[in-house]
Amino acid sequence: MKLNHWIRQQCLPTCHARLLRQTTALLLSALLALSAGAGAADKLAPKQAAVAAAHPMAIQAGMDIMQRGGNAFDAAVAVSAALAVVEPYSSGMGGGGFFLLHRASDGFEVMIDAREKAPLAANRDMYLDADGKPQAQLALEGAKAAAIPGLPAGLAWLAQRYGRLPLREALQPAIRLAQKGFEIDERFLAMATMKLPLLRKSPEIESIFLDSGQMPKPRYRLSQPELAQTLSTLGDEGHKGFYGGHVALRLVKSVRDYGGIWQMDDLAQYHVAERAPVRFEFDGLRITTVNLPSSGGATLAQAFNILAQLPWREADAAQRSHFVVEALRRAYHDRARYLGDSDFVSVPLAELISTDYAAQRARTIKEDRATPSADLSTALAQLNQGDHTTHFSVVDTQGNRVAGTLSINGPWGAGIVAGTSGVLLNNEMDDFSMSPGVPNLYGLVGSEANAIAPGKRPLSSMSPTFVEDERGVLILGTPGGSRIISMVLLAILDHAVNADPNPERSVSAARYHHQYLPDRIEIEPEGFDAAWVDTLKSKGHEVHTVERKWGNMQAIFVDRRSGEARAANDPRGMSAWRQPGRQ
Ligand code: GLY
Repeated sequence: MKLNHWIRQQCLPTCHARLLRQTTALLLSALLALSAGAGAADKLAPKQAAVAAAHPMAIQAGMDIMQRGGNAFDAAVAVSAALAVVEPYSSGMGGGGFFLLHRASDGFEVMIDAREKAPLAANRDMYLDADGKPQAQLALEGAKAAAIPGLPAGLAWLAQRYGRLPLREALQPAIRLAQKGFEIDERFLAMATMKLPLLRKSPEIESIFLDSGQMPKPRYRLSQPELAQTLSTLGDEGHKGFYGGHVALRLVKSVRDYGGIWQMDDLAQYHVAERAPVRFEFDGLRITTVNLPSSGGATLAQAFNILAQLPWREADAAQRSHFVVEALRRAYHDRARYLGDSDFVSVPLAELISTDYAAQRARTIKEDRATPSADLSTALAQLNQGDHTTHFSVVDTQGNRVAGTLSINGPWGAGIVAGTSGVLLNNEMDDFSMSPGVPNLYGLVGSEANAIAPGKRPLSSMSPTFVEDERGVLILGTPGGSRIISMVLLAILDHAVNADPNPERSVSAARYHHQYLPDRIEIEPEGFDAAWVDTLKSKGHEVHTVERKWGNMQAIFVDRRSGEARAANDPRGMSAWRQPGRQ
């Protein structure tokens, strides 16, 4: 692959020259490593380090850190922290996420669970009124919506256990961005416009993200000195710099001032968890992905296992989509019935992702007819749009890799910046099932398994994933709420059906989605011809075209033979990178 082509995939023209210089250095060091004979025949030996992320400044942060001697894990810290600054509506220090790691030296793979936890004073009925009616807004906005953040703990853990550089160094690019500021882009403006009333809800959030109470003009320079200070304290003191001391006091005081229920103990007791990834095979691909409390691994495994029982390969496009939808319908149905935080509830995971169970589920699928979801269950739900969360993928020249998906849940989270910490709080409590059959922001319904309990992690759909075969390794993931799982599935399917791996194609392909309830196939406004739609309708599916495309997938494919690392950014996210007056 040509160097320039690789750079074009990863950044705007403005950062090309700098990246070109850095990349040249990285290529040189990578070539030296190769000539020293690194890597057995089947070992991945990337010629270049690569980062795919939703913002060019976050990509830059990751590349900078690797150029300074950091590995992919240090880069993951740098990218995550930079995203917290430049994409504050999607993820941040007030949120959480999952990191899937592969360590090249010994092949060790693990999922770092930095998911938020319910406060210790939380209880299952906290969003129900006196008559037992759900008050959904309480789980979405304001201090009661915020779960205890996990991202700062995740970054400290990553740096300490897996990185080469001190945490402080890996956080430097983000601290600089927060301190010196950066020019906001169209995407920032679109997200701020969408949630303007929320950004006016409290003086702290308004003073940071608006310009004297007004929508900032294009190219406004946004600085966040208080967040820079919080990041510096985290860098200097590690985990306890956020979960203890003055930062913790500030967070708890502010949440309580706004009517929330956090206590110092909530922060003192927060810890990340290391979990074994979920692994399964599909069509010769080895897939490694997230475990609970994300539903992504279980749901993907189940959907692919069901698909594997069906003649999907020989099917035409519409028939194949019918099979995919029926597999998704059943997998999301079980998501709603069985999945929750396995530290709190017993989840029959092994059974759910077994091929025997998939075969049973597949036998109920008719080739020519949709199965009404009501035949699986009678619950009702409405789907709302979700536009939030962020994903990045990183690989270094040793072959270490990270897929990280991070979130504060809905755009701008709970809409509360905690005091003078600069930390925008999540509204991840909405990912719990507040009452059986009551849909959350994404129209997802849940059961007892995902009921609120003190210290419990809400069920997630975030699905950072590795896909491997003899051609190479694909590292991928995306934001998109409940649609994350179907997006990852469709990208893997694209990778399976096409002999030539092409991450740009995989992240660009038109998307459709079914999540059991609501019982309809949602499709993007472009990319599906009338014949495809008519065939699915003739099988009894409702096909609903949504207003705009969804997702912002960030993938890297490393070719096992050539060592080329190709990063691909979702064009749906790329378009928003264009700043006024630029192409
Ligand atoms: N907050 C979205 C998710 O975790 O799935």
